[in-house]
Amino acid sequence: ELDAGMDRQLTRLLERGDMTGKTKETTPLYEPRGIAAQRLLLIGLGARAKADQGGLFTAAAVAARELTTKPIQRLAFLLPDAGPKLAAETTAALIGAGMWHGSEGAGLRKSKPERFAPRELGLIAWPGANQGAVERGARRAEVEGRAVSLARELVNLPPCDLYPETFANRARDVAQQTGLECVVLDERDLAAERMNALLAVARGSDQPPRLVVLRYRGRQTGPTLGWVGKGVTFDSGGLSLKTTDQMVDMKCDMAGAATVLAAMQALAEEKVPVNVLGVMALVENLPSGKAMKLGDVLHARNGKTIEVLNTDAEGRLILADALAYTVDQKVDHLVDLATLTGACIVALGMDVAGVMTNDETWSARVQAAAQAAGEKLWPLPMDAHYAEMIKSDVADMKNTGGSRWAGAISAAKMLEEFVGTTPWAHLDIAGPAWAEKDNVVRGAGGTGFGVRTLVELARHYP
Ligand code: BES
Ligand code: MN
Ligand code: ZN
Repeated sequence: ELDAGMDRQLTRLLERGDMTGKTKETTPLYEPRGIAAQRLLLIGLGARAKADQGGLFTAAAVAARELTTKPIQRLAFLLPDAGPKLAAETTAALIGAGMWHGSEGAGLRKSKPERFAPRELGLIAWPGANQGAVERGARRAEVEGRAVSLARELVNLPPCDLYPETFANRARDVAQQTGLECVVLDERDLAAERMNALLAVARGSDQPPRLVVLRYRGRQTGPTLGWVGKGVTFDSGGLSLKTTDQMVDMKCDMAGAATVLAAMQALAEEKVPVNVLGVMALVENLPSGKAMKLGDVLHARNGKTIEVLNTDAEGRLILADALAYTVDQKVDHLVDLATLTGACIVALGMDVAGVMTNDETWSARVQAAAQAAGEKLWPLPMDAHYAEMIKSDVADMKNTGGSRWAGAISAAKMLEEFVGTTPWAHLDIAGPAWAEKDNVVRGAGGTGFGVRTLVELARHYP
């Protein structure tokens, strides 16, 4: 139909080999015949029979990346009828999400901007499409897209601008705009709550710590889901100082907290019928005269003691208290997200997060949500013998595994000491939270990994 309206221009492009329709191919047309647009970008989707969720998302993201290098004011995607396997709602949601994903990115702080976010984004349904389904999908894409963009923006902000207090202020703004309940604990509150492990990490910095607690009530009754995020706004390693090469991207160490905040925003905007408590542990890890030392023994909130043998294993210290606090707020299931270990990147690479659990049934639910969102998780074992790695001579446990082996697991084993019997899944997102280089679907920097998994999990909870 489109082709007929355009005097068979599309057929001619195909016949002459100027366009093949293979995935990620883009063909620009200017002032196309029969269409009220200045520019038309044709996007290859590959064979219809092979069309899948990832392909549609990627195609839209590639196109958005190409288009946002120019200052285009209004951008609309003409949705494809992707065949019987993909419902109209899913197609709209995927194209919409890809469009959002591709148009975001670094380069915003250059005095000469390199990317331009369009003022208006739209989706146009194909003739005969279920209009209601397309609208639902578009709405979902917009909510998720804005949430993923928020997470990426927070991760990309420089640590001079984003530290525990300013992160907490952003969380307050989000809460106010969306109607979430928000409580921010400062140092005095944290001391009153006996969160001494978190305070010990924070003490090395002039920036005071914060714990942000957001509550979303989407229904009157039913269980509560707890989300906990690691929010180290900069990780220098502390006295166990990192090298410059290891430290250079460590503004990304608050990605877990950013993911939790962004997903809470999405829940409230989408009005998902679920109850969720979101907790963000915010500190800066720096060395100073007040910094914690190797050999220090910390008394965590739940009464357990931790011997500090490496101040660069700070994530598990702040999460110890944050997890114990969240359990005390009577949540029924837990998920934490943390850029916790380099060892997890060694194990799984940059694009896959590790998932570790005390409850296989719950972990399977989280993995199913990740699969539906198109985010990759892979389970690592948590057998009892791994706990021997964190045995201490002087305290209940030590904060490192003592060797290089199974570093992602020994970290998770420490966290397990603070969740009691609550079903819990720990996502080590050290790899996928941050992209070192641009690729065709997104710019370098924060990726927003985990936001869509959390939202998907909440949609199907309990
Ligand atoms: N934030 C880091 C982990 C990390 C590394 C995230 C690379 C993203 C990219 C974490 O606090 C850390 O320093 N972990 C140490 C633990 C070790 C000292 C036991 C690590 O992985 O080396
Ligand atoms: Mn560290
Ligand atoms: Zn860290």
